[in-house]
Amino acid sequence: MSNRFKVSIIGAGNVGSSCAQRIAERDYADITLLDIVEGLPQGKALDIQESGPVLGFDTCLKGTNSYAETAGSDVVVITSGVARKPGMSRDDLLLTNKEIIAAVTRNTVSQSPDCVVIVATNPVDAMVYLALHESGFNRDRVFGLSGVLDTARLSSFIAEELDVSVEDVAACVLGEHGRSMVLVPRLTTVNGTPITEILPAETVDRLVERTVGGGAEIVGLLKTGSAFYAPSAAIAQMVEAVLLDKKRILPCAVRLDGEYGITDTVISVPVKLGRSGVEQVIELQLTEAERTGLTDSAKAVQELIKVMKLG
Ligand code: 2OP
Repeated sequence: MSNRFKVSIIGAGNVGSSCAQRIAERDYADITLLDIVEGLPQGKALDIQESGPVLGFDTCLKGTNSYAETAGSDVVVITSGVARKPGMSRDDLLLTNKEIIAAVTRNTVSQSPDCVVIVATNPVDAMVYLALHESGFNRDRVFGLSGVLDTARLSSFIAEELDVSVEDVAACVLGEHGRSMVLVPRLTTVNGTPITEILPAETVDRLVERTVGGGAEIVGLLKTGSAFYAPSAAIAQMVEAVLLDKKRILPCAVRLDGEYGITDTVISVPVKLGRSGVEQVIELQLTEAERTGLTDSAKAVQELIKVMKLG
């Protein structure tokens, strides 16, 4: 038995298994990969394990169909549920994934009452709200992927446009992981200079629009599923910030309790991530228009939350 961190990943589809691979290669946490399909998580875990000698990691991976194997996890990543097909919005997944995520959350927290839960399933803001409801955890221990992925998309488009390193781009994206996401070019910088001072307004608008439709662009190309390389990279960064107590400031889908004038709704805003999860919700100074955009985005999520009828 090792003394490493324990990360459980629920769902061994593309996002879950890529996530297992990325975290395994970081070599500081053992991983349990769970799926309801027999053989799938076992096969993928074993395959990743066998890459260890080549890549030089000692991570132990276990594939399983049983929640008992996830017991005592430090972090649980929930990726279960169905993904979009071309022509579908993330919201079309709501009621199907609601049933799945409710059951997964209950099973997860019964085995790991002290874990931090990171939700990736779409529509992610509503699914985080649901996981909070089902787990009874405080908001610091249940949050979701969105902003890290959306900012990565915008950063990669800006870097490509300007022919600069992605390392020098810092993007700011807030709000719902959906059509109402709020991109903030004013706070999106290249080596400290806002892109609004570097790029023509039409170019900024084009990159913003491409980012809003970034997930759909991949779905349209793949035809059989949605993105997983960038999502899994983003999740691995969030998991690392928690396990290694990095105090990273990363945009995550978190329940707001009055910040930005928004209450009882999950949207993405910058948070400080450390060993206990969300250690602080950061309130950026927004313009009137940006604030209105964020309020509208929160309303879009509230509509989905209503449809779930959580009582
Ligand atoms: C995306 O944006 C799947 O929502 C995910 O690609």
